[in-house]
Amino acid sequence: MSLASVIRSEEKLLLPTYDRHKILFERGRGVYLWDSRGNRYLDFLSGIGVNALGHAHPAIQKTLNRQAGRLIHVSNLFFHEFQAELAKGLTRISGLDRAFFCNSGTEAWEGALKLARVYARTKSSNGHKPNWRILALDNSFHGRTFGSLATTGQAKYRDPFVPLLPGVGFVRFNDVEDLKHQFDTGVCAICLETIQGEGGIRPISPEFLQLARKLTEGSDALLILDEIQSGLGRTGRYFAYQHYGVQPDIVTIAKPLAGGLPLGAILMSNRVAGSMHPGMHGTTFGGGPLACAVAIEFLRVLDKLLDQVSEIGRYFHDQLQQLKARHASIREVRGMGLMLGVELDSADTAKAVVSILMQNNILINRTHETVLRFLPPYIIREKHVDEVIKALDSAFSFSAVKGQRVASPAVRLAHKTKRRSQNE
Ligand SMILES: Cc1ncc(COP(=O)(O)O)c(C=O)c1O
Repeated sequence: MSLASVIRSEEKLLLPTYDRHKILFERGRGVYLWDSRGNRYLDFLSGIGVNALGHAHPAIQKTLNRQAGRLIHVSNLFFHEFQAELAKGLTRISGLDRAFFCNSGTEAWEGALKLARVYARTKSSNGHKPNWRILALDNSFHGRTFGSLATTGQAKYRDPFVPLLPGVGFVRFNDVEDLKHQFDTGVCAICLETIQGEGGIRPISPEFLQLARKLTEGSDALLILDEIQSGLGRTGRYFAYQHYGVQPDIVTIAKPLAGGLPLGAILMSNRVAGSMHPGMHGTTFGGGPLACAVAIEFLRVLDKLLDQVSEIGRYFHDQLQQLKARHASIREVRGMGLMLGVELDSADTAKAVVSILMQNNILINRTHETVLRFLPPYIIREKHVDEVIKALDSAFSFSAVKGQRVASPAVRLAHKTKRRSQNE
């Protein structure tokens, strides 16, 4: 099937929720993807953080093939051998005690919100009204279902769907005074991303996270961290909160957990888990044998990659800082490990840079209008970073002199490639 015929069919048949780039991907290996025309792309987005081990990783393939031939699905009414083993791995790396498996990030977040409410209700069984208010953060993103939207602090995601879940307040990002002001004993949980992803790669400040921990501890409320984008090795540690020395009560994960298969999880302390009983929460597909077997393999590979993520992440960060010194349109470089963002002076520049890189066969994306986002697979090497920096350098040089219509070699190449593919 050609790209043109896929586009025509999708336009007729799909709910129009995505504004896709006009590329038809057919296969991937390592850090590269190939499209239907045989063009090779360097993948520095990895499925928005899903393909953390790159494409077609041999260990993942082997486990997938073996398990697909044995048992793909069994109802959560029965046991299979992989959920407990995976939970053991995840509790070891998180310092939490128990896991619940589901299918996606938003489903994990919904479950975490339910836990917060039911935990507060359990404590209030002596006749007191349960504490049910939830504090979330401005500029956050937690997913597309109703509870997740209700705690997402960005109007563009929420507004078309109001009214949402009641009882949610928003605190200004990293504003400790606002947090102090809004927190009281009616709050059952403070919920936040350790590093805001869709909000433009913004790490939470140590002061803010420590205060959130102190306030919740003081009133037996919960600290819930969304590590769906920042967790599972992305920052060079298993979880981003491990850079802060703060231990949460609940953590949500998903994206890279099962090597590209849908799998999410809520990790929690025993104290919190005690408030749920059989029948109160569940899922048909979550934690199936295929996804769990692959996730166990993912954790095994991850153990050996953490140092590499830190090292190459530092190198990439340094290179981006040097780029900032050369180009006035770069405002700030943010992030940790291989979760990096570059804030630019305008949405138009960010859009143009993403497009130029794509024309030079490098995949990144733009988030929060003005931020270039880099979420490459953990297996990248310095030579891949160098290639991306070189392309960025040319793209920024071009945007700087655009008014005089002087194009850099990279951009001339990009335009040539584009013309060629349009003529095909
Ligand atoms: C921090 C964060 N939370 C939640 C989600 C939602 O995850 P999913 O798309 O798997 O539902 C995302 C997705 O990008 C995310 O980045």
